[in-house]
Amino acid sequence: MTLAGRKFVTMVVLGTAATVAGAQSLDFETFRMRVEPIFLQKRAGHARCVVCHSASNSAFRLQPIDKGATAWTEEQSRRNFESVSRLVKPGDPDASRFLIHPLSPEAGGDKFHGGGRQFASKDDPDWQILAAWVRGK
Ligand code: HEC
Repeated sequence: MTLAGRKFVTMVVLGTAATVAGAQSLDFETFRMRVEPIFLQKRAGHARCVVCHSASNSAFRLQPIDKGATAWTEEQSRRNFESVSRLVKPGDPDASRFLIHPLSPEAGGDKFHGGGRQFASKDDPDWQILAAWVRGK
């Protein structure tokens, strides 16, 4: 097998494992009640997650909110859930790109996020809510 072929197989296998694990232990109701509001909330000095992430700029893909609505329909939430679940390692926030990418590098986050340092530290109450969901609490 060529190197490129082997890489492809690895990606497919990892992708499947992430999907299966996600289906097993990430809770959809908690996602709707606690996680999604954070995507809509305006925090000082930052644009809201939904503003950028409802355009297809990355693997973190949010559905656009319908005109006049203040939240997603259940169907739209399911799609959001699927997209976010692919960026999460259930039970392990520190290994979840969803949590590490928007976190400040000083706090252990990635060096660059197109949307800035959305969370200055892991003590941010919103980051804590996201982490609790990933841990299954
Ligand atoms: C100003 C626009 C903007 C905002 C606001 C924003 N982001 Fe982003 N985000 C980006 C861009 C652009 C990328 C793709 C480039 C990169 O890797 O950073 C990205 C990438 C990501 C990724 C990596 C997705 C992948 O492809 O692996 C995650 C996770 C993420 N953002 C989470 C968030 C969260 C959570 C919020 C809100 C708390 C947020 N972002 C707010 C612009 C934004």
